[in-house]
Amino acid sequence: MELLAVVCLCLLTWSGTTFAAGNGPDVIKMVVKEGDDAILPCSLSTRENIVQKLFDWKRDGQKEVFLYDAGVTYGKDHPGQDEQFKQRVFHFPDQLPFGDASIVIRNTKVTDSGNYTCDFPRLQPRRRGLIELVVDPVLKDRTEENIPGAAPAPVTKILKVTEDGVVLQCEVRGASPKPDVKWQDSDGNVLRAEEPQVSERGGLYYVSLLTTVTKTSTNLFHCVSTQKDIGHRTEEEIYVPERLLEDKSCHEAPMFIGGVFTGIVIVAAVLSVLAAIYITIRRNKGEFK
Ligand SMILES: *[C@@H]1O[C@H](CO)[C@@H](O)[C@H](O)[C@H]1NC(C)=O
Repeated sequence: MELLAVVCLCLLTWSGTTFAAGNGPDVIKMVVKEGDDAILPCSLSTRENIVQKLFDWKRDGQKEVFLYDAGVTYGKDHPGQDEQFKQRVFHFPDQLPFGDASIVIRNTKVTDSGNYTCDFPRLQPRRRGLIELVVDPVLKDRTEENIPGAAPAPVTKILKVTEDGVVLQCEVRGASPKPDVKWQDSDGNVLRAEEPQVSERGGLYYVSLLTTVTKTSTNLFHCVSTQKDIGHRTEEEIYVPERLLEDKSCHEAPMFIGGVFTGIVIVAAVLSVLAAIYITIRRNKGEFK
């Protein structure tokens, strides 16, 4: 009984911290190259299921970018989306169960630049995310470098927020010889990454490398591209806002609590079996007396 009380108390504490977090109105700044896709991150720190919820993305407080209402999005049956965003904005249906309301704007234009808000108007307390997006036409010129074949600086971006952490993408576009691309934390430790995606066009290599990061002391991550043969090294740093990385410990909590409950159930089961055996033995003894 005491154990149960302790577990309940812990549960309360956990949900307390989980709900308190994530109200910070800090702005996430993002810069993308014109023509690239922009993923605007927005997640509830509680990671509660939002499949049946409503969330609303607006730009500069007025333009309707995207709306999700329990399965329904803008379209034939739900007019109101701004012309500019029609057929270009999508959400991530498989991430909804984890409180992830992020959207992707495909093929960005300079005119997409602005301040985006992600709003859950019906949730108590009401929660909002703010993202400043800058679509830069000049970033295009990065692929042209002075040394022939030398890799341009990698392009890093936040791809999405998942259960396990924030997925970062690093792209090196147009390099020869083939560059070696790595993700590192701010102490220079090489981070575990997925298998790099490499393609070749016109003798130039295009490399894309994904890694999933969790909170560190700086929340700064580096993508480093090296071409040993020509002694060329470039790198790009990316800062992941605290808000996207927080609550990883709380996210572990349900599993842990699950573990505790499973433990209790097992202990209870073992105890009842022992009790049953004990009683049976007693009874048998009684019979044989
Ligand atoms: C976002 O809002 C701030 C403050 O109002 C403004 O200075 C900034 O220019 C806006 N950003 C964009 C990309 O429009």
